[in-house]
Amino acid sequence: MVVQLKKIRINWGFFKTVQSKVTINHNHNYFTKYLYIWLMKQKIKPKIISQIMQKITVIGAGNVGATVANVIAHKNLAKEVVLVDIKEGTAEGKALDIWQSAPINHFNTRVTGVTNDYLATKGSGVIVITSGIPRKPGMSRDDLIKTNAAIVKEVTEKATKYSPDAIIIIVSNPLDVMTYAAYLAANKPSSKVFGMAGTLDTGRYRAFIANALNVDPIDVHALLMGGHGDTMVPLPRYTSVNGIPVTELLGKEELDKIVERTKKGGGELVNLMGTSAWYAPGAAAAQIVEAIVDDQNRVLPVCAMLNGEYGLKNVYLGVPCKIGKNGIEEIIKIALNKEEQALLNTSAQAVRELMKSLDDMKLFE
Ligand code: NAI
Ligand code: 2OP
Repeated sequence: MVVQLKKIRINWGFFKTVQSKVTINHNHNYFTKYLYIWLMKQKIKPKIISQIMQKITVIGAGNVGATVANVIAHKNLAKEVVLVDIKEGTAEGKALDIWQSAPINHFNTRVTGVTNDYLATKGSGVIVITSGIPRKPGMSRDDLIKTNAAIVKEVTEKATKYSPDAIIIIVSNPLDVMTYAAYLAANKPSSKVFGMAGTLDTGRYRAFIANALNVDPIDVHALLMGGHGDTMVPLPRYTSVNGIPVTELLGKEELDKIVERTKKGGGELVNLMGTSAWYAPGAAAAQIVEAIVDDQNRVLPVCAMLNGEYGLKNVYLGVPCKIGKNGIEEIIKIALNKEEQALLNTSAQAVRELMKSLDDMKLFE
């Protein structure tokens, strides 16, 4: 159970066992000061967080956007989540529906919805962009890029006007190039504009491994790099089950199958449902929001602009990053062998071609 007072957030359910879950805002009043001292006496070291976030905006109230807002609210990550959509009533309706689950599921984050009203998003600390259209029959890849880039550009400009300091997380597809589009539109450092794909793709990879070994998925630790598409690079060499290399537990053939299934993970769900996934994507985006809001310094794969890391420059690509209150606090460099580096280079090349397509459209001049 999460108890949220004005300036304290304490997860009582894990109170005695998981110290990092005990968080106290550093602007403490007398009550929180005494609580802090009492916790220390109990040998529980509470984690101090800088402040409770006032507002988070999620643009696009479709399947993914509504799910992100729902998870953020359930985790009490902010005082308010604002959902924005262009379809009249959609954001308002979904926000109301989520908010009506608050008394049942015990959260206190207000969820509101608006149609194209960016004034309501004013002062957001984080903006998640999920607006866009899926690729339709007969539509070329470039048509999709053009349509979604125009949407991402428009919503980024409108949202940053009212929340100039916000950290922006892109979810819209094609992910890597849409992140680049938002970066061009946002006019802020790339450490504050990055994309969500790696946390989802790694989630899928970890879930497949957990199934194959019949272990708790939380014990599967993994790293996956590259673009969000068939060229992504799951890294079995950096995958373990609580420290035991996965290569000791699964044979090459089975691991290869899991890697291939992960690469096509999005497509597998589109084939099953006729549209793309939302539960895991929503949770994966909210995981990044949580890392920012609680200044967790979590090591998560996100789509980041590279400036020489891994021998690559001026390209948005999935790499492990430390995520905290400033967005990307650090791009983590790990050693890749020749084969892994070659796969990453191929993925970077595929993303570069899409970024060039966007540049050639001259939408940002
Ligand atoms: P959806 O079609 O359910 O929702 C998209 C929403 O965006 C719609 O409600 C639409 O009205 C809204 N929208 C369109 N233009 C807008 C604008 N100018 N301003 C505000 N809202 C606008 O689609 P879904 O399933 O939620 O997916 C959203 C995006 O996320 C897609 O591009 C999808 O491909 C992508 N995606 C990315 C993933 C990733 O790992 N990065 C995973 C899953 C989806
Ligand atoms: C996914 O991976 C299609 O990007 C979407 O589910």
